[in-house]
Amino acid sequence: MINIAIDGPAGSGKSTIAKAVAGRLGIRYMDTGAMYRGIAYTLVKAGISASDVPEVIDSINRTDLKVEYDEEGQHIIVDGEDVNGFLRTPEVTKMSSDSAVIPEVREKLVAIQQETAKRYDIVMDGRDIGTVVMPDAPLKVFMTASPRVRALRRKLENDEKGIPCDLDQLEAEIIARDHTDSTRKTSPLKQADDAVFLDTSYMTIEEVVDFVIDKVNKVFNTDV
Ligand code: DC
Repeated sequence: MINIAIDGPAGSGKSTIAKAVAGRLGIRYMDTGAMYRGIAYTLVKAGISASDVPEVIDSINRTDLKVEYDEEGQHIIVDGEDVNGFLRTPEVTKMSSDSAVIPEVREKLVAIQQETAKRYDIVMDGRDIGTVVMPDAPLKVFMTASPRVRALRRKLENDEKGIPCDLDQLEAEIIARDHTDSTRKTSPLKQADDAVFLDTSYMTIEEVVDFVIDKVNKVFNTDV
């Protein structure tokens, strides 16, 4: 079974790398952040605040979340609706981090992630994949980059999509989200003891993919 865990803070490049590595291996890629964003989208839509924990729990108990795949990749289906197009707004981004501190939110999503990892070869990225979701994954990578570099990457992505943004503000948002994600009580963003650490600040995407693929080939005896 190929189980690869890639963790790291927002904008560390983990999704790009996880997707590329899964593509090279011809296996599934699960973006767990998109699942937290799917929950966040329903909360934002219903006008529920993340600090109103009973309301959040009530809402997630009533929410049906599925992860489906087609040739375009992963789709988050909430109560029968494909919500992929609504997951990257600033409101949903902030709510995903704020609501991810609630243990009941995590339990619901971790159960789906663990079930999927048991059934499929998979590359999964997130914050707690190596520590909680797949603690036995034979390969774990913890990726990071400086907040400024991560903000710059986000800005370049936004510029390409024509979304106006301010670099200093993006950096401040990234630092705030790092703080929420790494100081929460339940499953904080943390490097697993047996994870390979990689600072991608001054690496190109190709260099990072090559680094991870080299590890994959060694750990799983593959040749991709
Ligand atoms: O990876 P991302 O930026 O799309 O994740 C959005 C938020 O979801 C992130 O700020 C924290 C939360 N998250 C989490 O708590 N655990 C994960 N495994 C993935 C994401």
